[in-house]
Amino acid sequence: DFFGGDNLLLSGKHAVVTAGPTHEPIDPVRYIANRSSGRQGFEVAAALCRLGANVTLVAGPCAQETPAGVTRVDVETAREMEAAVTAALPADIAVCVAAVADWHVKNGGAQKLKKSKDGTPSFEFGENPDILKGLSGMTEGRPALVVGFAAETEKVIEHATEKRARKGCDLIVANDVSAATGIMGGEYNEIHLISAAGAESWPKMEKGAVADRLALKIAEILKG
Ligand code: CTP
Ligand code: CA
Repeated sequence: DFFGGDNLLLSGKHAVVTAGPTHEPIDPVRYIANRSSGRQGFEVAAALCRLGANVTLVAGPCAQETPAGVTRVDVETAREMEAAVTAALPADIAVCVAAVADWHVKNGGAQKLKKSKDGTPSFEFGENPDILKGLSGMTEGRPALVVGFAAETEKVIEHATEKRARKGCDLIVANDVSAATGIMGGEYNEIHLISAAGAESWPKMEKGAVADRLALKIAEILKG
C-alpha cells in the first residue's frame, strides 16, 4: 500500500496549491476569464494530501469537488487569489496550477453597463500580480519548493525553460496543449518537467496520474 501508513512522505509539510481560472469583473454581471476546468490543480491538491501534506487549495471559480482532507479557500479574482495565498503562508511547498488572468479591467462598471445608454464599451486593463513569480522571489520565508505550470502550444520545452528562468521557480510542469495532442479540456496531460537539470518527458497520462507522479517528485526533491 504505497500511499498508506508508513509512506506519508510529506507528513508535517504544508502545501499551498492554486487552481482553476480567475474571473475579472467588467461589471456586476460580466467578467473576463481564462479557460480552466480546475481539474489538474484539484488533482495535485489531492495527491499531495494523499502523501500526508497539510494542503491549502486556493481555488478560482470552478465546479470541482473539494478533495477529502484538503482546506479550500474560494476566490474570484487574481488579486484575491494572491491575498489568499499570502494569508496561507508559511508553506514548504507552493504549486501554482491556476490559469490566472493576466489583466483586470480598470474601468468596469459599478452598475451593470447598459447597451442603450453606454454604447459599445472600451476597456482599459491593469496587470495582475504574478503569484508564482512573487512566491519564487520571496527573500524571507520562501517555500522550499515552488512549482509552476505552463500550457504551451509550440516549442514546449524551449518556452517552458525560458518561463522557469523568468519566474524564478524550481520546477515548471509544461503541458503540451497544441491541437494535435487533443489535450485542452480533456482528461489527459502530456508533460515535460523542467528543472535546473533540464527537461524530463513523461508519457501521456491522466491528470490524476500526473498529480501523483508530481507529488512523488516533490517529496523526493524535498528529501534531498
Ligand atoms: N501565474 C501566476 N500568476 C499570474 C500569472 C501566472 O501565479 N498572474 C502562474 C500560473 O499559475 C502558472 C505559471 O504562472 O503556474 C505560468 O503561467 P503563464 O500564464 O504560462 O505565464 P505568464 O508569465 O503569464 O506568461 P504568458 O504570457 O505565456 O501568459
Ligand atoms: Ca498568463
